[in-house]
Amino acid sequence: MLTLRMSRSVSHSLSIVGAGRLGRALGRRLHRLGWHVGAVVTRSTSTSRAAARFIGAGNPSVPLTREIIEADVILLTVPDGALAGVARSLAQLDPKKWRGKAVLHTSGALDRKVLQPLARRGAATGSLHPMQTFSGRSEPNLDGVIFGIEGDSRARQIAASIARSLGGVPVIVDGNKKISYHAAGMMVAGLGLALAEGATQVLLSIGFTRRKALQALLPLMREMLRNFEQHGAHAAWTGPISRADYGTIALHAAALRKHPNELQEAYRGLARLSARLLSKSHRATLRNLNRVLGKSRRKSK
Ligand SMILES: NC(=O)c1ccc[n+]([C@@H]2O[C@H](COP(=O)([O-])OP(=O)(O)OC[C@H]3O[C@@H](n4cnc5c(N)ncnc54)[C@H](OP(=O)(O)O)[C@@H]3O)[C@@H](O)[C@H]2O)c1
Repeated sequence: MLTLRMSRSVSHSLSIVGAGRLGRALGRRLHRLGWHVGAVVTRSTSTSRAAARFIGAGNPSVPLTREIIEADVILLTVPDGALAGVARSLAQLDPKKWRGKAVLHTSGALDRKVLQPLARRGAATGSLHPMQTFSGRSEPNLDGVIFGIEGDSRARQIAASIARSLGGVPVIVDGNKKISYHAAGMMVAGLGLALAEGATQVLLSIGFTRRKALQALLPLMREMLRNFEQHGAHAAWTGPISRADYGTIALHAAALRKHPNELQEAYRGLARLSARLLSKSHRATLRNLNRVLGKSRRKSK
């Protein structure tokens, strides 16, 4: 992996195909940075109009129209499963107009190969993936956020410039390894969220209100993250496994039996993972954990 250092300016007109959570957010920011936003495409008139309103610019458009190719940069922010079909349809819109254009998708898992029909028409192709979560509910901070980029050299250059102009840090990720890059992001965002909600459910089950549960858990998570960031994983490690207190772990496992099987599995899996990654004598820790962590009992429902 190589962090790019470039300062070349980029073209300033943009079409957005798939103006959902990410497409809208990037469109709005790029518009504020002076980009001309052309076609704003979704699957329905109402969503494309709402997207253009949110961005503050652009022509709502359903479905794919030639106007898309009038921009210099075409940002494909459709879901991963729609990318191949959209790329095929775009390539058929006006085969001769793609030369000189740049097409970037924002999937974290896929690389530029999915845009091959457009590359064959002469477009520069690549991807630009912000390692950040866009819920559509708030505007996430992009300062210092890593943008995984890959593609042919022109697409990479444009993707890097866009990332930098948004306050991010472009990092080239090998296309064949993007899936691992994406798995890492999902572990902390999607799966981390499930873990936080699981712990919240445990507190709710013993009478906490949701507000009090969050008040209990969020400072804990924030301090854990601060220690992780400032002192590293080993120094940040606390809790009964770090103290070799397996009696408490056995009691946890018993208390969690009234919760869904998936929550019990997550507890056991993460306990073992913490032993593997954080314990100085991980073999002994794993042996002790295996002794106290019985198999989960399915919650009847
Ligand atoms: N959200 C994130 O946190 C995040 C972060 C980094 C990267 N990404 C990547 O960004 C991409 C989009 O994710 P998202 O979360 O923004 O998805 P999303 O909110 O579901 O938005 C997808 C958009 O694509 C439109 N669409 C779907 N199929 C289409 C098609 N065949 N033709 C034209 N438009 C189509 C949808 O139209 P309608 O509005 O009419 O349904 C919607 O506007 C994915 O590749 C994802 O991996 C997302």
